[in-house]
Amino acid sequence: MSTRLVVLISGNGSNLQAILDAIYYKMLDAQVVGVISNRKDAYGLARAAKVKVPTRYLPLAPYTADGRGREAYDADLAAAVREFKPDFVVLAGWMHILSPAFLDHFGYRVINLHPALPGQFPGAHAIADAYAAFQRGEIKQTGVMVHLVPDAAVDAGPIIASEEVRIDPRDPLESLTSRIHNVEHKLLIQALRRLIQGDE
Ligand code: GAR
Repeated sequence: MSTRLVVLISGNGSNLQAILDAIYYKMLDAQVVGVISNRKDAYGLARAAKVKVPTRYLPLAPYTADGRGREAYDADLAAAVREFKPDFVVLAGWMHILSPAFLDHFGYRVINLHPALPGQFPGAHAIADAYAAFQRGEIKQTGVMVHLVPDAAVDAGPIIASEEVRIDPRDPLESLTSRIHNVEHKLLIQALRRLIQGDE
């Protein structure tokens, strides 16, 4: 039986698409059994629906509005993910930090993709932060990493795969961004293959 993946998204879902394509072309022995978004208008929801993958929309706002808070949200999110009985949970552009109320349900089975090298530029604006650091002469390259999420540390954990991306002085931010996304689409699949199939 192929490995069951639940993918958490917040936006465009181009990395979700890379996973769906890799599965379709038999580059990855897995199935996406569910996609959950914290944003209603995330385009990734449409990408999933197009190939008949079940989706759920679970916003944080009602939990903060009525005082139930982040932990209750994470517990409900964990319950929603568990309904899909995943082997792995993939954070592909998921823009929330997950607390132990979520992570404790999944051991070392949560995987995060982040558009920076290990230890650099955590958070939601990694590409722009790296670009600014380059302009200041602090770095010559940035990159992409895929790592396990054992705890609530932001964009940190045991590395499954990482790749450097050179910054060209003539690169506008947009072209660096698109080069990074291209690397992500490839590296995420490599990392999942490594994890699922033991590939080098
Ligand atoms: C990707 O660049 C991913 O690495 C980043 O969000 C983007 C989602 O793109 N994640 C983070 O910054 C996590 N801190 P996508 O929706 O097109 O896959």
